[in-house]
Amino acid sequence: MDFNFSKAQLMLKKTVADFSENVVKPRAEEIDRSGKFPKDLFLEMTKMGLTGIGTEEKYGGSGGSDIEKIIAVEEIAKYCGSTAATLSIHTIFASVIGKFGTEEQKQKYLPVVCSGGELGAFALTEPNAGSDAGSARTTAIFDEKTQEYVLNGTKCFITGGGLAKYVLVFALTSPELKTKGLSCILVERGTPGFSIGKIEDKMGLHGSETAELIFDNCRVPKDNLIGPLGKGFKIAMTALDGARIGIAAQAVGIAAGALDESVKYTKERVQFGRPISSLQGLQWYLAEMATKVECARWMTYRAASLKVSGMPYTKEAAIAKFNASKVAVEVTDKALQIHGGYGYMRDYPLERMYRDAKITEIYEGTSEIHKVVIAREVLK
Ligand code: CAA
Repeated sequence: MDFNFSKAQLMLKKTVADFSENVVKPRAEEIDRSGKFPKDLFLEMTKMGLTGIGTEEKYGGSGGSDIEKIIAVEEIAKYCGSTAATLSIHTIFASVIGKFGTEEQKQKYLPVVCSGGELGAFALTEPNAGSDAGSARTTAIFDEKTQEYVLNGTKCFITGGGLAKYVLVFALTSPELKTKGLSCILVERGTPGFSIGKIEDKMGLHGSETAELIFDNCRVPKDNLIGPLGKGFKIAMTALDGARIGIAAQAVGIAAGALDESVKYTKERVQFGRPISSLQGLQWYLAEMATKVECARWMTYRAASLKVSGMPYTKEAAIAKFNASKVAVEVTDKALQIHGGYGYMRDYPLERMYRDAKITEIYEGTSEIHKVVIAREVLK
């Protein structure tokens, strides 16, 4: 068992930490206030190779694995939860194509999203199919005459859905078979019949776009089927197992960022004639926060290392995400409390971190769904 990073991983951590502190941090407040997706930061991450982590270089990726991915996501989340979410969720697209796509599909799509500056999106959720993903009703019926899939339905809460060049849409190719009739179909931006609906106005994560996607007799060629016909539910579940490790890393990063702010603030803030870091009550808060962050971080790395070594990791990914998201909410809450009135003001980053932390308990599977997944694995 080795708890150490390799030299290359340490270098990546330092490079992303510098980028996060010098480039992302100064932008985080403005991104939150404007609610605009920072395309320039996405392009910077592309230039640095971060959007291609986990994909082989021959497909335009930058190599590396889920370990490198979570190193990058955590460092960025310390200063901007939105930008970290964009990176983490964007990489789901490449992970699905990399695992389930044909050689031709890999060559066609991966370079565009890994190093071409375009976003990829993952569209599973529907207005009436959230936690119960298997009740998705969007259809993709095959037209024998034209050899095309015809999509009809609406997807909602899709991260980057309105900006993405390619969207992986989970739709019923055989509606009577329910989850066994669900398939994964790639839809390209601009395809007739595919339109962007409501862009959500959220509590937090303002720099990460969340869109409704509408399919109205949207026709795509049969070559856009990703993976085997009828295996869409399994593809989505496999993708989510991996993606949840990314959200755990995002949650760890938000919590670690709030802890760093709290350490700095308690050393600088003088009350009762001394820095408040000398008060045992606050030291205990900091100790508890540090313990939670450290535990959440190692659970996240444990899940990633199981995935990288090809071992089963569904339970560990769910535990990591369930725990890290809880830690992110608890730690940002405590950090805001430590900052007192200042923490509540928008001049300080704490209230943003607190708002950004909350979604980690909801998206890519709620905490309650994670408990379902963990319990099923434990009871197996
Ligand atoms: N890996 C591979 N296959 C899996 C799997 C996994 N982790 N989990 C289930 N499956 C397979 C099962 O083996 C089963 O296959 P068979 O029919 O061949 O036996 C099939 O999938 C159906 O499984 P279940 O009976 O367990 O399915 P279920 O309907 O009970 O649902 C669930 C299981 C875990 C609750 C699932 O619905 C779920 O994860 N729900 C949450 C959905 C979610 O996380 N949504 C987030 C969307 S993405 C997002 O939030 C943000 C974004 O922008 C990306």
